[in-house]
Amino acid sequence: MTLFINPDRLQADFDALSAIGAFEDAEGNRGVNRPALSPAHLQARAWFLARAAQAGLETRIDAAGNHSAILRAGTGVQPNAPTPLPTHSHASRPTPTSAVPPTLAPPHTPTLLLGSHLDSVPDGGRFDGALGVLAALEALRTVKDAGLSLPVDLEAIDFTDEEGTLVGELGSGALAGSLALEALQKPRGGRQRLEEGLARAGLDEQRLGQARRDPASLAGYLELHIEQGPRLARSAIAIGVVSGIVGITSYQMMFRGAANHAGTTPMDERRDAGIGAATFAITARELVLRDYDGCAVNIGQMHFEPGAYNIIPGLAELALEFRAPDAKRLGELEDALLTLAGMVARQYGLGLDLEPKGGCAPAPMSERAQAAIAAAADSLALTHMRLHSGAGHDAQALAPVTPAGMIFIPSREGISHSPREFSDWQACVDGGNVLLRAALKMAERD
Ligand code: GLV
Ligand code: MN
Ligand code: MN
Repeated sequence: MTLFINPDRLQADFDALSAIGAFEDAEGNRGVNRPALSPAHLQARAWFLARAAQAGLETRIDAAGNHSAILRAGTGVQPNAPTPLPTHSHASRPTPTSAVPPTLAPPHTPTLLLGSHLDSVPDGGRFDGALGVLAALEALRTVKDAGLSLPVDLEAIDFTDEEGTLVGELGSGALAGSLALEALQKPRGGRQRLEEGLARAGLDEQRLGQARRDPASLAGYLELHIEQGPRLARSAIAIGVVSGIVGITSYQMMFRGAANHAGTTPMDERRDAGIGAATFAITARELVLRDYDGCAVNIGQMHFEPGAYNIIPGLAELALEFRAPDAKRLGELEDALLTLAGMVARQYGLGLDLEPKGGCAPAPMSERAQAAIAAAADSLALTHMRLHSGAGHDAQALAPVTPAGMIFIPSREGISHSPREFSDWQACVDGGNVLLRAALKMAERD
């Protein structure tokens, strides 16, 4: 049977979801503001479960707040009765929360996960993460409508806090069993924001780890995503078959100088923390450009204290993140950047404090998943190329425990994490069809 997703249904979902947390920038570009576990994010997640329930799918929220729609193996056509929604308090239960009675599936049927995330960066785009969750839901509905009986459970999953406004890949890390509870003590977004978010979502920090799944219960993971870079668009290629995902490390870095009078302190006697921060930013960029091909460094925030026109900065706080395609390069880059920070501090007579803020390990994607994606693209006569992801994704948390693969579609001008993020609608539909067909291939389990 040759299956296609329903593009109109996907479009209706995309438009409805894009309205949650919507904002417009000064040029009229429409984006979304749904930081993890914010009210808008929770609203989007509730909407997703409601849509799944309307389609007669089983729904579930796990102990890490991951939201899922499930089509059980062998069920073909399921009862049409809408599924009552679980409440957030269900999140603390370690077991599935669906109100649908146990299905026809045999007890140890593995689950093929399809998904991404509904959270966004602050003032983000409408496609990042959202497209992957909606396409996953649409794939389940398509299989269900066709009455196909698969040998696996299909689960469309919305992972908690992929973007790292709180921790980063929190939900997928918990499911994979790699979320260290200690890492939650000094999260990227700060303890207060994490505690507030967990409370708002009804999640218990001590129980997040209960979302872990036995790898033997998983048949794989596939994620559709916009590329977020310019390679597919520049090459006029329809589909990216992701070969691997970059590793990411982050630090809070503090240069400590001496606040003093901006006019009377001699220029060569200042201990200016701001100059330390600026020098580090420029030389870190030069270092990466010169010695670390394929790597990236970013300083996403710089905060000076006391922070006034007429005071030399006594403290400069930097949000530092760097990325490399493999663990060896990531370690080398870390050493080089921290050494550089030490040199800059000495040069300007500054103190230096470094606080690790966690990260994500680099991960190759499964060869089997890549082959399934390439075959799916071929079956749709879509051009494809292999490419490495410079963005982090939930697939990298899943990769160590189950065959994981990612499908990219072109991003206009390679723009992302911005309301200017855009992908042609036909490309989204093509990506959805590749996801569906790759999932059917993976479901065969050889
Ligand atoms: C996630 O989008 C990341 O790469 O930061
Ligand atoms: Mn994303
Ligand atoms: Mn993102």
